[in-house]
Amino acid sequence: MKANKNRKKFGRIIYFILASLFTVCIITQFYLAGVATFLDAGAWMKHMMFVHLFGFHLPIFMLIVALIGALPRQTFLQLFGVFVSIFLMYFTANMNSIAPWVGPLHVIIAIFLFTLSCVIVFSSWKIIFYNQKFEKDEEQ
Ligand code: HEM
Repeated sequence: MKANKNRKKFGRIIYFILASLFTVCIITQFYLAGVATFLDAGAWMKHMMFVHLFGFHLPIFMLIVALIGALPRQTFLQLFGVFVSIFLMYFTANMNSIAPWVGPLHVIIAIFLFTLSCVIVFSSWKIIFYNQKFEKDEEQ
């Protein structure tokens, strides 16, 4: 029972850390887009390479620790939103030549993804430190 509780706590804390890291990566992506626009066009390459490092990898690790931490259903819906958004980021960046109106949506989805990553950080923080009700419901 105690081991189970510790396992959940461990999963939730790691989930929170990974979610925060993901948000920092999204902000870095914005920053690299800014550098490429205002300083050095070569930074577009960094923007494109950096997302390969975290785009799908971090959410996959988050999914694994969310399962370990037995997080509520809303967490998995949020993660599903992250996977769909990352896919759409690739789609909007690469379908530009076929459908030019798709390209500008890259920025809109980037804003959505940033908002979603902040929501994930705050809700996982709440679950770890404030959601006593969630903890009690689970113990029953
Ligand atoms: C204002 C913000 C942003 C701007 C202006 C921007 C712009 C761009 C541009 C110009 C490209 C290259 C497209 C091409 O090859 O024709 C690109 C690629 C890409 N960006 Fe962004 N981006 C922004 C934010 C983000 C964010 C926050 C993410 C987060 C995941 C992201 C993910 C990607 C991805 C996945 C690619 C394609 C990489 C590839 O195909 O290898 N972008 N972006």
